[in-house]
Amino acid sequence: MFISLLFTAAVVTAAPSSSAVSVSKTVPKDAASGILAPFVSFSIEFSSFPDFAGNKSKPNRFSNQLLDNLADLQGVKPYIRVGGNTQDFALYDPNLKTQINGTVVPSVSSDYPYIISIGPSYFEAYNTWPGAKFSHGFNLGKKTTAAMNTLISTVPLACKALSNGNFAHWEMGNEPDLFTGQVRPANWTEQDYVDEWLSKTRIVQRQLSKACPDMAHGEYYKYLAPSFAGPSNRLNPVKTWQDGLNSDNDVGMNSMHNYMGGADSPGVTLAHTLMNHTAVIKSVANHVAVINNLEENNLAKGVPYILGEMNSLYHQGKPGLSNSFGAALWGVDFNLYCASQNIRRTHMHQGTDYRYASWQPIETNKTSMGTKAPYYGNAMVAAMLNGGKGEHNSNVQVVNLPMTQETDAAYATYVNGRLARIAVINMQEYNYTGTDAASASRPSATYQFHLSETPSKSLSVQRLLANGTDAITGITWDGWSYNYELKGGNPVRLSNVTIGQTVHVNSKGLVELELPYSSAAILNL
Ligand SMILES: *[C@@H]1O[C@H](CO)[C@@H](O)[C@H](O)[C@H]1NC(C)=O
Ligand SMILES: *[C@@H]1O[C@H](CO)[C@@H](O)[C@H](O)[C@H]1NC(C)=O
Ligand SMILES: *[C@@H]1O[C@H](CO)[C@@H](O)[C@H](O)[C@H]1NC(C)=O
Ligand SMILES: *[C@@H]1O[C@H](CO)[C@@H](O)[C@H](O)[C@H]1NC(C)=O
Ligand SMILES: *[C@@H]1O[C@H](CO)[C@@H](O)[C@H](O)[C@H]1NC(C)=O
Ligand SMILES: *[C@@H]1O[C@H](CO)[C@@H](O)[C@H](O)[C@H]1NC(C)=O
Ligand SMILES: *[C@@H]1O[C@H](CO)[C@@H](O)[C@H](O)[C@H]1NC(C)=O
Ligand SMILES: *[C@@H]1O[C@H](CO)[C@@H](O)[C@H](O)[C@H]1NC(C)=O
Repeated sequence: MFISLLFTAAVVTAAPSSSAVSVSKTVPKDAASGILAPFVSFSIEFSSFPDFAGNKSKPNRFSNQLLDNLADLQGVKPYIRVGGNTQDFALYDPNLKTQINGTVVPSVSSDYPYIISIGPSYFEAYNTWPGAKFSHGFNLGKKTTAAMNTLISTVPLACKALSNGNFAHWEMGNEPDLFTGQVRPANWTEQDYVDEWLSKTRIVQRQLSKACPDMAHGEYYKYLAPSFAGPSNRLNPVKTWQDGLNSDNDVGMNSMHNYMGGADSPGVTLAHTLMNHTAVIKSVANHVAVINNLEENNLAKGVPYILGEMNSLYHQGKPGLSNSFGAALWGVDFNLYCASQNIRRTHMHQGTDYRYASWQPIETNKTSMGTKAPYYGNAMVAAMLNGGKGEHNSNVQVVNLPMTQETDAAYATYVNGRLARIAVINMQEYNYTGTDAASASRPSATYQFHLSETPSKSLSVQRLLANGTDAITGITWDGWSYNYELKGGNPVRLSNVTIGQTVHVNSKGLVELELPYSSAAILNL
């Protein structure tokens, strides 16, 4: 039983050791910009949004509860970007009696529909989660009369649905950097994209000035863009800005997408691809290069860089990896690393039956309704980034602390310039099921931090725990379960998980923390 082993709180008497990681009490000068609150946000597949949110007569209360839990932890309810591949398939049918009529075409994907109509009640989904803010994704992909009619007829429906203090952004097209040679000719360029984007967003603006004039200008008229799949596909994001993406000064967020790899790519494993801090650094480095390049060229000034869609493995995740506790640990490392690198918000992508989803909003014949492992990672990130109630954009900064092994990661959070929390993530695999399940007790690792300016203080410890890397149930954050089966997603404190541990910073400023393999914790100052 690792639980009892674990909570023998260490009293450190040793002199400062060279292996202790120094953490300064005030924010280092080279720290990244403050995160945008909310940082923990979601992207929901356009075709799955009715499943996640429901409608006026049947709101999805389970989803709403899970979002409220994160609001309590981080101070603000997550923002929701509604979009993805299916936003570029959807056409409007004013006579459709249901929210959506989707037909799966297995040669395209068996995970989402390819032929899609949405009806007027689709937009009811924007008013089922009180306090959440949304971005609505318009279809840029299709170039037909039906698509143009869809744009013209849905602007008034979307703007009315989003005029209750719940509007965040618009979005025109998903991953248009993959259009070249697909839904556009092989010679489609950045300039062609920008011209088309400008012409269609101007149609949106004209429709808004008729239907929702308050939303047609200024702070209330902003887009997520360019929403590219990545920094180095068929279109170059920096060139897109050079070519005039923001000519109308209406890009609110410089939004890009990210996945660590593909669900079906050879060699993808938890240990190699996800539970690997080097791999996280490498993946995020592509974005850091874009951020630096834009800055050097004086582009996108004042437009925050965010990941408007991201998750572990594209093609909706890999069973056994993306839905495991190991992926939750990856999510903590990845998101906190982003926060330390000027990526100021992340929207984790969700869809019905998706393997990497934080929760399954409805029961289907593929997946049981419920809170999934990655959600617990979202909870820890939210707790780490709390900067108080309300939206803000400067007072929480995150610093990546250097560790010697790529299976370890640690971060410091500064609130209003002062050290508030330290997070440590152990990503050594420990399976508790399967043929090679360890019969011996679970190994643990010890971490030392040197807080020279904070001697003789007790720090409370909150832990992210599960039975092993391969656990898909029985996961807790600080002893809380958010499982659907218990109280519909409301927090329930489990009695079989120890909570309330403290560790002591000794007179030399040293503090020691022990983590079982495949677990994470926050030290609160
Ligand atoms: C609302 O959702 C319920 C449950 O999915 C569904 O039966 C009903 O048709 C929906 N109503 C509309 C107007 O789409
Ligand atoms: C839903 O879409 C399918 C495929 O396009 C179509 O055959 C069917 O009639 C549609 N159903 C409704 C209610 O519109
Ligand atoms: C791009 O390709 C299309 C055919 O796919 C052709 O009609 C068009 O002239 C080409 N444009 C340029 C600038 O080469
Ligand atoms: C971790 O990721 C890096 C970068 O992708 C890779 O070179 C290394 O082999 C990975 N480590 C393991 C244990 O697979
Ligand atoms: C599973 O559900 C889908 C969507 O409702 C349905 O189309 C499919 O036929 C069902 N499959 C089985 C095996 O019941
Ligand atoms: C854990 O299980 C996975 C899947 O069976 C396996 O690939 C991995 O090597 C195991 N890890 C350890 C440390 O036993
Ligand atoms: C986790 O381990 C405990 C103790 O061995 C066991 O009682 C519990 O059922 C396990 N949980 C899961 C989800 O396997
Ligand atoms: C604690 O109880 C929950 C719910 O019964 C179970 O899923 C989980 O595995 C247990 N955890 C441990 C560490 O025994």
